[in-house]
Amino acid sequence: MEIVKFSENDSVEELTNLLHSSYKRLADMGLKFVATYQTSEYTKSFLKNGECFIIKENEMIIATVMYYNSFFMKEEDAPAWYKKDFVSYFGKFAVMPEYQNKGIGGMLMDFLEEYAKSKGKTELALDTSEKALHLIDYYKKRGYRFIEYHQWDVTNYRSVVMSKKLSS
Ligand SMILES: CC(C)(COP(=O)(O)OP(=O)(O)OC[C@H]1O[C@@H](n2cnc3c(N)ncnc32)[C@H](O)[C@@H]1OP(=O)(O)O)[C@@H](O)C(=O)NCCC(=O)NCCS
Repeated sequence: MEIVKFSENDSVEELTNLLHSSYKRLADMGLKFVATYQTSEYTKSFLKNGECFIIKENEMIIATVMYYNSFFMKEEDAPAWYKKDFVSYFGKFAVMPEYQNKGIGGMLMDFLEEYAKSKGKTELALDTSEKALHLIDYYKKRGYRFIEYHQWDVTNYRSVVMSKKLSS
């Protein structure tokens, strides 16, 4: 499976549908991650904020993740950790439900950890809901540790920021 950058020739609608279907489990838990409801217009403009990577199988996008080399939002909205210059982070992380638990998410994270290192970063971070215990466990197993809590104004839960020190 090849990890490639989302390009102009790829469908923003397909990418948005993938986010909705993958994040449905979180929506069903009552957690309003933006990815559970974002529109294609939002996805299109959001793509400018980072680098979007995808995996395709039979011409279909089956996995995606956004890499942010540095923080892109208004200062006051940022978790303090994301503002540090040695920190990169990722989000909009989704594997199509039928393809989950096969190591694809792990492969994307391995890729991002190397990618972040190639950009001179020493930490790769993320945030998720403090109520998504299965995700917190998943990231912990891969070496991500708790950094801080953060309240985004667009979510109905408190987030935990987690980060992994990248080996040199
Ligand atoms: C989170 C997510 C991206 C992970 O992707 P994934 O491809 O399912 O992840 P992996 O396959 O690498 O790992 C999932 C589990 O399968 C296991 N696994 C990995 N390879 C496997 C294989 N070949 N066979 C069986 N199990 C395997 C992993 O060990 C892991 O189990 P663990 O949590 O007990 O460690 C995916 O579940 C998803 O899209 N979830 C919904 C959206 C979401 O929650 N996004 C993150 C928001 S912060």
